[in-house]
Amino acid sequence: MIIYKSQAEIDLMREAGMILAETLARLQAMARPGLSLLELDKEADRFIRDRGCIPGFVGYQGYRHAICTSVNDQVVHGIPTNRKLREGDLLSLDAGLIHRGFWADAGVTVGIGKLSAQAQRLMDVTREALGIGIDQARVGNRVGDISAAVQQHVEAAGFSVVRQFVGHGIGRDMHEDPQVPNFGIAGRGPLLKPGMVLAIEPMVNAGGPDVALLGDGWTVVTVDHSLSAYFEHSVAITPDGPEILTVVPKSVLRQEIHSPLASEGPGGGG
Ligand code: MF3
Ligand code: CO
Repeated sequence: MIIYKSQAEIDLMREAGMILAETLARLQAMARPGLSLLELDKEADRFIRDRGCIPGFVGYQGYRHAICTSVNDQVVHGIPTNRKLREGDLLSLDAGLIHRGFWADAGVTVGIGKLSAQAQRLMDVTREALGIGIDQARVGNRVGDISAAVQQHVEAAGFSVVRQFVGHGIGRDMHEDPQVPNFGIAGRGPLLKPGMVLAIEPMVNAGGPDVALLGDGWTVVTVDHSLSAYFEHSVAITPDGPEILTVVPKSVLRQEIHSPLASEGPGGGG
């Protein structure tokens, strides 16, 4: 069942989305060789709680962290460990939070230092695919229009879309109807109407589409060990077109994101 959101509810989800976008920007600014995945997770947890929000992944189906960190051939749901980032890593960050009862869910792939040409192109094509998918998230279109647009862009670049995991509606629950696959047929699927909010999240492999689950029960990897990238935004369907909720508006200047002392508080020495 699709749950439509009122304007007031979308306003709350916009607040949630902005805080989540700031969180991801902060993590992106921190990510560099030598930093561990657990340090990123710790910062995300602190950053989200400091703003009065709940890091919603914590406790979700037994998950124990605020973010997912998926490196190189890991697709999504990688568990943060003490593994340190290395030059050339392709790091996918996925975070979610709950703000006044409403979820925001978003993710980004980040290159650590200088990437290989293939990794760079994979990251660029995946980011573009999300944008092209979002552009189809319009009243009167169908979910299949989003799916087909994402798939077409990815496959035209010689990459493949993951089938086993899909985007989703989002609201008071992280995962609501409808499912939003990254593959499909234009003109098919649920009709897009004002008040729907969708988490659109292309997962793109440099090689084949098949993925497998590691023994930790969470981490999803490519079967052929090819690189994978992922981007996600929570997007509201409005009469005026798609509104990306998980962004920091340009008018909002945020100091903490790029501050090296951000985690130390006032007077923190460094
Ligand atoms: N953000 C992911 C999604 O879109 C969910 C992360 S799983 C969790 O489905 F356990 F970490 F929450
Ligand atoms: Co999601």
